[in-house]
Amino acid sequence: MTWLITGGAGYIGAHVVRAMTGTGERVVVLDDFSTGVRERLAPEVPVVRGSVSDEGLLKRLCLEHGVTGVVHLAAHKQVGESVEQPLRYYRDNIGGLAALLEAVAAAGITRFVFSSSAAVYGNPDVNLITEDTPCAPMNPYGETKLAGEWLVRAAGRAHGIRTACLRYFNVAGAAEPRLADTGVSNVIPMVFDRLTRGEAPRIFGADYPTPDGSCVRDYIHVADLADAHLAAARLLAGTGAGDAPGADLSRGAHGADGGGDLTVNIGRGEGVSVRELIGLIGEVTGDTRPALVEARRPGDAPRAVAAADRAAEVLGWRARRGVREMVESAWQGWLQHHPQAAAR
Ligand SMILES: NC(=O)c1ccc[n+]([C@@H]2O[C@H](COP(=O)([O-])OP(=O)(O)OC[C@H]3O[C@@H](n4cnc5c(N)ncnc54)[C@H](O)[C@@H]3O)[C@@H](O)[C@H]2O)c1
Repeated sequence: MTWLITGGAGYIGAHVVRAMTGTGERVVVLDDFSTGVRERLAPEVPVVRGSVSDEGLLKRLCLEHGVTGVVHLAAHKQVGESVEQPLRYYRDNIGGLAALLEAVAAAGITRFVFSSSAAVYGNPDVNLITEDTPCAPMNPYGETKLAGEWLVRAAGRAHGIRTACLRYFNVAGAAEPRLADTGVSNVIPMVFDRLTRGEAPRIFGADYPTPDGSCVRDYIHVADLADAHLAAARLLAGTGAGDAPGADLSRGAHGADGGGDLTVNIGRGEGVSVRELIGLIGEVTGDTRPALVEARRPGDAPRAVAAADRAAEVLGWRARRGVREMVESAWQGWLQHHPQAAAR
């Protein structure tokens, strides 16, 4: 098989490319480099510069590279930005996905993995979020992920495409420093950024109904997440866990006519509070200044922790790396990209 990896020069995409090429899968990357970085990819990885909204380019690319499966990661992903620019998020995340699926159907490609998000669930009042927990996204970003899943499943049924929607929880860490997340929208780099400026980390709300009052999240190492993509790709292709006893794509299928579509949480199934995380960051960085408690941010769920059983059952995949490893590897990446932090 040859896998088209859209957004392959991004933080998660580059890890997916690394995991897939590392096990001998053939890939081609499509990226518009709006946030992607070429240096994240090994020089021998074929890269096409362009947008997933460009149907003509997609059709040519699929033909020229003999693409037989797609892992679609390219998207805008900032919650706040999506509230300010919903039209851009719907146009690019949904319009781009529709164009990509058109090209996939036209090329007769029958395997499709979609980057979804725990943002599809919104703020459910449950201890563990299962794939059957009702979806109620709280912002346009989450809406585009949920509508994206609908589109993927509908196109899959209509055109005979086997699909997998992976709902990632809080992604962190790096397999190598050069692959690290360079943005500061997620909590770990956000804390590193504060420390690098000589400022105390912030906790937004310490009066939530959680053991220490701060929000609880499920953190997943990006290298484990990349392995989950590999497992999903192989399951769809019929070359991986799908062939193993106990692994069954239809277990994750939605709807009575399912069988070819899988929707699965990708998390560790363990909650870590923001206060605990900041304590761990202090141990790893050696900067243990006390956190400032600030007001709650609107829209933050007190707790968002995945039920991780379906991924284990269906993909034969479980996260192996813990939160300390995420913080340590993220810190190594941060130091490489922010030499001033090392000098402090
Ligand atoms: N990082 C997280 O915590 C997280 C959590 C849940 C889901 N996701 C999803 O995972 C995917 C990847 O996220 P990431 O953190 O690696 O983000 P990223 O911004 O690092 O990567 C996105 C990549 O897609 C490319 N891209 C964007 N729009 C494009 C377009 N129209 N055509 C071609 N390329 C385009 C960018 O240049 C970039 O390389 C996204 O779909 C995101 O919504 C991320």
